[in-house]
Amino acid sequence: MHSKTLLASLLAPAAVSAVLNDLAVRAGLKYFGAALGEGAFQSDSTYASLLRDTAEFGQVVPENGMKWESTERTQGVFTYGSGDVSAKQAQQSGQVLRCHALVWHSQLPNWVSGGTWTVETLTAVMESHISNVMGHYKGQCYAWDVVNEAVGDDGNWRSTVFLDTFNGTGYLPVAFNLARAADPSAKLYYNDYNLEYNGDKTDRAVELVKLVQAAGAPIDGVGFQGHLLVAGTPSRSNLAAALQRFTALGVEVAFTELDIRHTSLPAPASAYATQGDDYANVVGACLDTPNCVGVTVWGVTDKYSWIPGTFEGQGDALLYDANFTRKAAWTSVSSVLAASATLPPTSTSSSAQACGSSTVYVTATATAQPVTVTVTATVTLSQTATTDPAAIQTLYGQCGGRGYTGPSQCGPYTAACKVQNDWYHQCM
Ligand code: G3I
Repeated sequence: MHSKTLLASLLAPAAVSAVLNDLAVRAGLKYFGAALGEGAFQSDSTYASLLRDTAEFGQVVPENGMKWESTERTQGVFTYGSGDVSAKQAQQSGQVLRCHALVWHSQLPNWVSGGTWTVETLTAVMESHISNVMGHYKGQCYAWDVVNEAVGDDGNWRSTVFLDTFNGTGYLPVAFNLARAADPSAKLYYNDYNLEYNGDKTDRAVELVKLVQAAGAPIDGVGFQGHLLVAGTPSRSNLAAALQRFTALGVEVAFTELDIRHTSLPAPASAYATQGDDYANVVGACLDTPNCVGVTVWGVTDKYSWIPGTFEGQGDALLYDANFTRKAAWTSVSSVLAASATLPPTSTSSSAQACGSSTVYVTATATAQPVTVTVTATVTLSQTATTDPAAIQTLYGQCGGRGYTGPSQCGPYTAACKVQNDWYHQCM
């Protein structure tokens, strides 16, 4: 085998052809995941196969099946058929399961929201709901959204049956304590939208984490839902700054319900490119934040999304269009992940007879790492490369793209730096 061919095979161009969860894991995240729409999953085989593809989605979360109205529509009567769809899917494919959501004002049956309660009776209702539902899924959920959307759009505490009955925020530590007792293995999250803007609502969520901690109750994570707008998404650094306000408190973070919608449809082609940039900023912010564990998109395809039903005339917010074709945003996400991904270890058998070596720079990394590749006796590779990582990128390595600061020249076995997309130029 010619030495160039061997090096090329050792440095396989996985970064460009690989898919989202594979890339995310190589980039250091636990998962790249998606919400599972129970109706679509059961009726649309194209949808179901894509959601089952663990190279693309390493995590699932039920879009509706584990909510209170699905699991305890009638007091004391628990139904798990819809939630079990996601749990079974995760188990069958070995996907991470996020579980959503326990204490939330929405999709809450009338018997709870319209009931007349005291602190004691509502605590008993919460205890019964949390212990039954978390008990049913015990040991299966990587994380539970224990409290969802407790802060209003104006940054004040949201008036709900929980806040109002407790006459304040006392229900928050109660919920987290009940959750820990019900399933000690699950990470316990607070989950909300518009935390991304680092405004009053974000301040209040920081206060929430602090007050739960001050009460001695457990809280392990904060979910940034990420329901965002094309051309209205904060920059990568501003998003990272918002995430890091929470990781500074000792909790992990994740984007839990990401979609970035066009506010007017049909949108021009340029808006789809902007949408790609916005997605790259969100995923990039997670990559830039130690203790940001993953990114979950709130749906697989524009064919099925909650958005048009809530925001008429808006949408096209996901990574696949209604025909299951990857959009520009998919390419942006894969590229920003690839730029942070490292290839699996490349080493030969220890029994092989080494007769030459070359220092190469692992491809698809923003900060190229020197790796020594040992070449077997069947190959004569006489030179030892001493390329300068600041100046030279090797075959299949990244050589340009927005935000990239590594080597931009290609060599030694490379023809040119080829533009794959705005975010990823590659030595080919
Ligand atoms: O299940 C009924 C069905 O029986 C009935 O025939 C049909 C008629 O409209 O409605 C079905 O219920 C719908 C349900 O989704 C399941 O499809 C509800 O009308 C509909 O309002 C509900 O919307 C969900 C919404 O939460 C409710 O708040 C969306 O699918 C879901 O994507 C959305 O998800 C939320 C997250 O949980 C929390 N963060 C915000 C996010 C987006 O709103």
